[in-house]
Amino acid sequence: MAYKHFEMIEKNAGLLGVLIAIMVSLGGLAEITPLFMQAHAVKAPPGVKPYDPLRLIGKDIYVREGCYLCHSQMIRTLRAETQRYGHFSTAEESVYDRPFQWGSKRTGPDLARVGGKYSDEWQRLHLLSPRKVVPVSNMPDYPWLEHAKLDVADVQARMRTLRRLGDPYTDADIAAVPEALEGKTELDALVAYLQGLGIRNEPTAQASAQGASGGQP
Ligand code: HEC
Repeated sequence: MAYKHFEMIEKNAGLLGVLIAIMVSLGGLAEITPLFMQAHAVKAPPGVKPYDPLRLIGKDIYVREGCYLCHSQMIRTLRAETQRYGHFSTAEESVYDRPFQWGSKRTGPDLARVGGKYSDEWQRLHLLSPRKVVPVSNMPDYPWLEHAKLDVADVQARMRTLRRLGDPYTDADIAAVPEALEGKTELDALVAYLQGLGIRNEPTAQASAQGASGGQP
């Protein structure tokens, strides 16, 4: 009996196609669904807070300017990486990054823990004109950042949207935006973002990796 059914399906290309599509979809779902569950299970560790207004807009400027086209923000669990960049990246560190900036393109160095590596002044000069501080650099100049003002209403709208997605911004946080952005430029925001990268998260990453081998050089 069963053979007859197989024969019928095999001789009917349309039916065979539909049944293959159903099977492939089921297989795909079986692989993808657990990943979605895992993503929801990743929670912010204590101490990791959503971006403050200046860094939040700094992150969006980073995305707008396409910095990710040359810089990753994910240190892999390889000794060569941890020796150069610091502790390997963990998923929890990126819970407030929408979209996350892990990437894999490294024309320039990984930036996951660049915060605090240089002074604010170095970062400003380097963004305005990279070759003034690193003569062999092929990173572009970003001179317009120095003069571009920040849009308070836009940042508040972003915070409200992120709150809807689950980020714990309070009304007071949103009301404090004008004060936080007073007199600041896009350059200030981008530098604040860069200077925070990895800083706040590193101790948490270290705590979560206790017992894991190969993370620390
Ligand atoms: C065309 C590729 C390219 C783009 C686009 C680019 N960079 Fe770079 N970046 C580099 C290279 C190469 C270096 C290493 C040489 C140097 O320090 O300038 C670098 C270095 C850096 C460093 C110093 C890292 C360290 O550990 O020494 C920072 C910070 C940085 N870039 C930030 C940015 C930001 C922010 C943007 C976007 C506004 C950006 N980069 C866009 C190529 C790029």
